[in-house]
Amino acid sequence: MQACRAALLRFDEQGHALYDADGLLVIGPDDKGQPVVRAAGAYQALARHFPGVPVTHWPGRLIAPGFVDLHIHYPQLDVIGSPAEGLLPWLEHYTYPHEARFADARHAQEVAPFFLDELQRNGVTTALTFATSHPASVDALFGEARRRGLRLITGRVLQDRHSPDGVRDRASPDGAHTATEQSLIETEQLIQKWHGVDRLGYAITPRFAPTSSAAQLQGAGELAARYPDVWIQSHAAENLDEIRWVRELFPRSRSYLSVYDGFGLLRERAIYAHCIHLDDEDRALMQARGAAAAVSPTSNLFLGSGFFDYVAANRAGLRYGLASDVGGGTSFSPFRTMLAAYTVGREGQTKPGLSLAPGHLWWQHTAGAARALGLSGVIGNLQVGCEADFVVLNPRATPLLARRTAQADSLAELLFALIVLGDDRVVEHTVIRGTVQNAPPAAINWPAVPPA
Ligand code: GUN
Ligand code: ZN
Repeated sequence: MQACRAALLRFDEQGHALYDADGLLVIGPDDKGQPVVRAAGAYQALARHFPGVPVTHWPGRLIAPGFVDLHIHYPQLDVIGSPAEGLLPWLEHYTYPHEARFADARHAQEVAPFFLDELQRNGVTTALTFATSHPASVDALFGEARRRGLRLITGRVLQDRHSPDGVRDRASPDGAHTATEQSLIETEQLIQKWHGVDRLGYAITPRFAPTSSAAQLQGAGELAARYPDVWIQSHAAENLDEIRWVRELFPRSRSYLSVYDGFGLLRERAIYAHCIHLDDEDRALMQARGAAAAVSPTSNLFLGSGFFDYVAANRAGLRYGLASDVGGGTSFSPFRTMLAAYTVGREGQTKPGLSLAPGHLWWQHTAGAARALGLSGVIGNLQVGCEADFVVLNPRATPLLARRTAQADSLAELLFALIVLGDDRVVEHTVIRGTVQNAPPAAINWPAVPPA
């Protein structure tokens, strides 16, 4: 067993923030020997119950759950910051050519560790990420995540039409299987190879309705039924041109979202990125099926896609969590994403605007995202039994943060200052399964005063 002493942030079942200004987090093995939270709470109340357990003291620091990124594309690492006239030209001009490079396994093996380093540097301890249509892209990322002991979910992208050579699905080399059949065969092989190995999970990954034939969506739905604890990830209702295209391709569907429902692709553990241009019937359907939205505000602002409607989502009881959507998104940093989510929530010209509370923004990127994945009590929180993935944050990481957080006289103020002013400089350590991954940044030695 080991313990850490610092300020401590957790969430209760209702998603309310719990805070100990002087907290203790005790880590020890569960019955399978995996490091989990054995106790969490106020230092004064807990410490005497764990005599002899070594305590690492991080004065002035904040321990918080590792962030969960509910939607990201690892092959789009080099696409960040590519401007375009909206989603469809962006896919055509930047995204598909970059993803085509993953036909070369060596390229995937070079990108995968950089991508995971970048997540960890930013305090993200679990991601649900797209790979590409090349199975080697999946192998490269799972292999690297496994070496690091990371909890990670990814899948081979299914796209058998309306996309260029190089990313579109390919027939089997011997010609025995069509591209559609081969894409589904490879998906099932990858599920059997990786799903449930250590902390890895597979996601059936149709890119979006326009780039999958009905036969491919049908096959994906059949796999989703056969492997109910495998995840599903796709995109829905992001952009108005995309929605017009879906209406032309699937004229008999009531809406974009109901295309997926018609193929059995809305269920628990199904995560749909964006979900901006839904109507109330769509939201009720998603809620009833247990599917969840990956809200991707930096991407939606960058590509000019629109604004996620939190008021309507809350009214429908829709599950959601936060996502970077790199490379449409502009940052790996959960702080940037939470700030963008606040801005998107405030937007009141196209939908009702509201002020999301900082604790709720934080929850959306941790325990809320974990709930969307069906992983409540496993990741995204620091309650007893949760896996020991967490971050150690320095609220004084920059001069302005030090000045602003010193004046914070409530938890909400402290969290808001971090959300607005924070980035990777705040993340002093990322801890995976109880093991500190990255060394502290050099040279900043602020006075050791616990936050308010
Ligand atoms: N829709 C289909 N593919 C993509 C993608 O790669 N990024 C985003 N943001 N939307 C998509
Ligand atoms: Zn995406």
